[in-house]
Amino acid sequence: MTPRLMADGLTKRFSGTTVVDNVSFYVDPGQIVGLTGPNGAGKTTLFNLLSGVLKPDAGTLTVNGVDATNLPPYRLARLGLVRTFQLARELDRLSVLENVQLAARNNVGESLTGALFRPAATRQAEQAITQRAREVLSLVSLSAHESKPAAALSGGQKKLLELARCLMAEADIILLDEIAAGVAPHLVEEIAVLIRRLNREHGKTFVIIEHNIGFIRNLASRVVVMASGKVLAEGSFDHVAADPAVVASYLGQAA
Ligand SMILES: Nc1ncnc2c1ncn2[C@@H]1O[C@H](COP(=O)(O)OP(=O)(O)O)[C@@H](O)[C@H]1O
Ligand SMILES: [Mg+2]
Repeated sequence: MTPRLMADGLTKRFSGTTVVDNVSFYVDPGQIVGLTGPNGAGKTTLFNLLSGVLKPDAGTLTVNGVDATNLPPYRLARLGLVRTFQLARELDRLSVLENVQLAARNNVGESLTGALFRPAATRQAEQAITQRAREVLSLVSLSAHESKPAAALSGGQKKLLELARCLMAEADIILLDEIAAGVAPHLVEEIAVLIRRLNREHGKTFVIIEHNIGFIRNLASRVVVMASGKVLAEGSFDHVAADPAVVASYLGQAA
């Protein structure tokens, strides 16, 4: 079985400090992998390397069997990998639907540019995007809010909108960076149900960075714990939770 994602020896330094240190990491199709560890462990930087936002100083990345080292985010999206981004401020005034439509335009940018001089094709593409955007909004239970400006959503609803923007890319690997952080408990539960459903019914593979240990325990079939830029432990939740090094570095603090 070809892993969805394979990182080998990824390393990133910022002005002499090694923030991600020789990290190897794989994700099999259909898995939900939890990535956790103390603040400053290098989790977000690892996501930036996996999603092409940062280029590694060393190491390789393979996505769906294709060498993806040093590819920019839009090329990784075409290979099937996307990550959530915090909603950009300037999009606050656009409606929820427009935010989702825009995610598709960014992703199909080239083909749409090609269609610019063919108005009928453009109209058709726009209609297809709008239909797909409405399907995605329905999936994340935001249909009733499609005309509201994004700024009017609650924190948790904004996270659902970020996820909706990811889903527009029709990627099969989705990286979520602290999607439950600062979200009201009932919406955290809704997000967890949605992730499980996207995994089981839509075949999506997830890597989720999360501090909320209950969220990880509930969702992840495999857990990777990072500390000081390195992988400290990996395996089932119970396996890593019982690892003395993990208990010492992190889970011990949370318990
Ligand atoms: N662009 C950057 N320039 C310099 N240092 C950075 C940069 N991004 C992150 N760091 C540092 O790298 C370390 C890991 O950060 P980060 O990947 O955000 O950790 P985590 O997501 O696990 O909390 C931290 O010490 C942080 O200060
Ligand atoms: Mg982080």
